[in-house]
Amino acid sequence: MAGLGNPDFDAFRLLDEHEALREAVRALVDDKIAPRAAEIDETGEFPQDVYEALVAADLHAIHVPEQYGGQGGDALAACIVIEEVARACAASSLIPAVNKLGSMPLLVSGSEEVKQAYLPPLARGEGMFSYGLSEPEAGSDAGGMRTRAVRDGDDWVIDGGKRWITNAGVSKFYTVMAVTDPEKRTRGGITAFVIEDGDDGFSYGAHERKLGIHGSPTRELYFDNVRIPDTRRVGDVGDGFGVAMRTLDHTRVTIGAQAVGIAQGALDYAVGYAKERKQFGKAIAEFQGLQFMLADMAIKLEAARQMVYVAAAKSERGDADLTFFGAAAKCFASDVAMEVTTDAVQVLGGYGYVKDYPVERMMRDAKITQIYEGTNQIQRLVVARQLLAKH
Ligand code: CAA
Repeated sequence: MAGLGNPDFDAFRLLDEHEALREAVRALVDDKIAPRAAEIDETGEFPQDVYEALVAADLHAIHVPEQYGGQGGDALAACIVIEEVARACAASSLIPAVNKLGSMPLLVSGSEEVKQAYLPPLARGEGMFSYGLSEPEAGSDAGGMRTRAVRDGDDWVIDGGKRWITNAGVSKFYTVMAVTDPEKRTRGGITAFVIEDGDDGFSYGAHERKLGIHGSPTRELYFDNVRIPDTRRVGDVGDGFGVAMRTLDHTRVTIGAQAVGIAQGALDYAVGYAKERKQFGKAIAEFQGLQFMLADMAIKLEAARQMVYVAAAKSERGDADLTFFGAAAKCFASDVAMEVTTDAVQVLGGYGYVKDYPVERMMRDAKITQIYEGTNQIQRLVVARQLLAKH
């Protein structure tokens, strides 16, 4: 068959540009983020210095297209940035990840006007974006939301609230899904809007006290008669649930990348430790029991990485099977991250369990990747629906 056996075959590997990006991100991370990671976890404060370093390097929102003043990084580039930051500090990796999540609805369906209004300030680092879908009674069942938007002339009036909003309070812009037709709900009754920090009637709840990702604030959003112009609508009236789902198809891939990064950080640390740590007169890495454990960690991690990268390519191309691959990659990679970080703690033994070493933080941080952007039970549901619809 034509093309098979071609000595110039160059598919199925990263472009040189992607490898160069990885090196650049890794250099910045080693210099500015890794030394801060334990402290960020300990204090639980949003790392403004990390944000500024990412902005200075144009890595805080690499996905914003060039026509809106961004870098125009493709979906794989965004994954590489998130992966490399997460390798040292998962909380910091939520800066590029959530900037993409919050602004993706605009890219998926926004009018030119709404894109021009919000994407350039995001690209310039003047304001981060968050994503407001979940509510106290609407987590996995996102369509059960109660936040209401009612049309009033050229305006919309929004009432209700959102829960578990990543980077709430530090973001300037919030893409919020609200019910505009209670009869239709997920099929034509939900609409997306941009709400800005400082809008009258918009406030935040207390900081959630979390297991991990301490440096990324998670808070509620409250809307009390928030009046916004129709120009802040994202997509058509009634199209909001589809916009929210299409967004997640793309960004679940980035959570997969975050999971891969966390797992890589833990594996790297465990390998280094196993070569240094001596018991019974030799390095523990010389024991086959440990070698097999490290090998299994590396095999699973590499499989997860490849799956995430393939999903990223599908996201970039907008392939028809992205819904399957986004959910599958997020699900697989986050399960792997949980296993690999737990095993890394085991490799370090008693040292793994204490905060003097980074692997317990990585294990705590890994857990959220199995939960947010849809629990892994929801990912399996999405995958199964795709599978069953096909056959
Ligand atoms: N693309 C486009 N449209 C879609 C879609 C997709 N992938 N999935 C659904 N839709 C649209 C369709 O129009 C569909 O109607 P049709 O089937 O008639 O075409 C309509 O939505 C309703 O779809 P469903 O019947 O499948 O809806 P459902 O109520 O059964 O819910 C669900 C589906 C997959 C369970 C969805 O509710 C879901 O994904 N839940 C998880 C929510 C979630 O991931 N939350 C994450 C919050 S963000 C976050 O966590 C961020 C963070 O902190 C970093």
